[in-house]
Amino acid sequence: MAESGAAVRKEFGGAVSTRQGVVVLDFGGQYTQLIARRIREQQVFSAILPCTASVEEIRAHEPVGLVLSGGPSSVYDTDAPVCDPKVLQLGVPVLGICYGMQWLTRTLGGKVERADRREYGPAELGVEKDTPLFHGLSGRLKVWESHGDHVVGLPAGFHVTGRTENAVAAVEDPERKFYGVEFHPEVNHTERGTELLQNFVFAICGAKRNWNRESFIAETVDGIRKQTEGARAICGLSGGVDSTVAAVLVHRAMGDRLTNVFVDTGLLRRGEFHDTLEMLRDRLGLNVIGVDASERFLGKLKGVSDPEQKRKIIGNEFIAVFAEEERKIVATSQNGLPVKFLVQGTLYPDVIESVSVKGPSAVIKSHHNVGGLPKDMPFGLIEPLRDLFKDEVRQIGRELGLPTEILVKHPFPGPGLAVRILGDITPEKLETLRGADVVVVDEIRRAGLYERVWQAFAVLLPVRSVGVMGDGRTYGYTIAVRVVESQDAMTADWSRLPMDVLERISVRIVNEVPGVNRVVYDISSKPPSTIEWE
Ligand code: XMP
Repeated sequence: MAESGAAVRKEFGGAVSTRQGVVVLDFGGQYTQLIARRIREQQVFSAILPCTASVEEIRAHEPVGLVLSGGPSSVYDTDAPVCDPKVLQLGVPVLGICYGMQWLTRTLGGKVERADRREYGPAELGVEKDTPLFHGLSGRLKVWESHGDHVVGLPAGFHVTGRTENAVAAVEDPERKFYGVEFHPEVNHTERGTELLQNFVFAICGAKRNWNRESFIAETVDGIRKQTEGARAICGLSGGVDSTVAAVLVHRAMGDRLTNVFVDTGLLRRGEFHDTLEMLRDRLGLNVIGVDASERFLGKLKGVSDPEQKRKIIGNEFIAVFAEEERKIVATSQNGLPVKFLVQGTLYPDVIESVSVKGPSAVIKSHHNVGGLPKDMPFGLIEPLRDLFKDEVRQIGRELGLPTEILVKHPFPGPGLAVRILGDITPEKLETLRGADVVVVDEIRRAGLYERVWQAFAVLLPVRSVGVMGDGRTYGYTIAVRVVESQDAMTADWSRLPMDVLERISVRIVNEVPGVNRVVYDISSKPPSTIEWE
């Protein structure tokens, strides 16, 4: 959650600052996250900060180098994003990429102009000499460009180190260790881009390989142990990857001083509450309280059809249930230890989205935080995954010995099946949808596709149509099947499922789920549609 950032920074500031990584300052470029990923793949920590970050904030990370990202603006636009020029006096090497290079050179007295010929896509780079950045990469390289401006005048101390047909493509000031490239070394289309980044990170910045799963787990567990001595913590579990990995990490540090709460909203999949509870308790050894609140949720949702209203009701009810449990836990004595902390499975993309180039005021997609808890809870936050990307969380989970079924589990929305039943929600409709959901997931698994697709589920439409079964006329519901492929859920495309898989899904739903006589397949991408129907 956006509000939590400051509190957590304070609590975990120490852990982050000792990593001696590379800070990426974000000018709003589409590849900014990728830059941080590529650096982390070298086992060097990389944090993304908005370009508006203060010098003190950057210094708190004790970086060994800075990368200035690309961005969609022109440096001479009136509202072009800028860094505090003092970041160039931190005494660490700087690599400007695309807009970052233009900002760097212009700020130091160079000149940037709109290019006669814009460069988008592949280009050929001629490396002029063997400089530290291009060490071992001499000759010609295929690179990926995406810019409309280029540098035409260099600041004092700089010289050109590489050119494409149309423009200066790489520059350096070896004295001050300032480097700039007009192309994107972080994308796969750039030949040997990773080696270039390695040159910057290791040879130029002198970074150490100290960011890996084992060290992350050891450091995090140790940090939490010290921070939470003599206190208890509460965690809201959903059974998904993020909250489970967070809980297991904190459990390692705190043992049963961590109490987890798992709420049955009545909107879960078939068997999910029981199976997940069993796994969390028996296989993972977590201290979990299972709360069956299904009647409360369904009561509040009775007769409600509007999607936003459904989400609000569920969000509020969740908070109410959690707050009640929290009070009970606080009132239960455990050697007189006070409950002081709340654990959340917030991930890095949530954090950086909330502090994008637009500055810390930008709001994150609040509807995705149904786990969002009352702001007035007098607790410190523990968010052990707030520096990680989703696949890094999966790797940590694997290292912690979590069962594969949790690690590969498809995302499931906080409001659950409520946003997959269009119109009002009744116990009967929930049963119908659960039956169809079982078939979809089962057939996708059987076809060996479960881990290849992002999500696969059924949606119950409030549409009834005429059919014929046996010798009789039917008037039944329609199920829409939604199977999508995606990297991050920001964009998605519908899966081109084999026809025979679609056929089996359709035949089985109509045969096995009473009240359904028609099945359709959703062939909409996101955008313009969303993954969920509500
Ligand atoms: P949409 O429908 O916005 O969904 O394309 C993108 C991804 O987010 C999931 N989703 C949610 N997850 N709480 C969550 O925890 C929510 O309220 C929520 N709504 C959508 C959705 O399943 C997809 O993976």
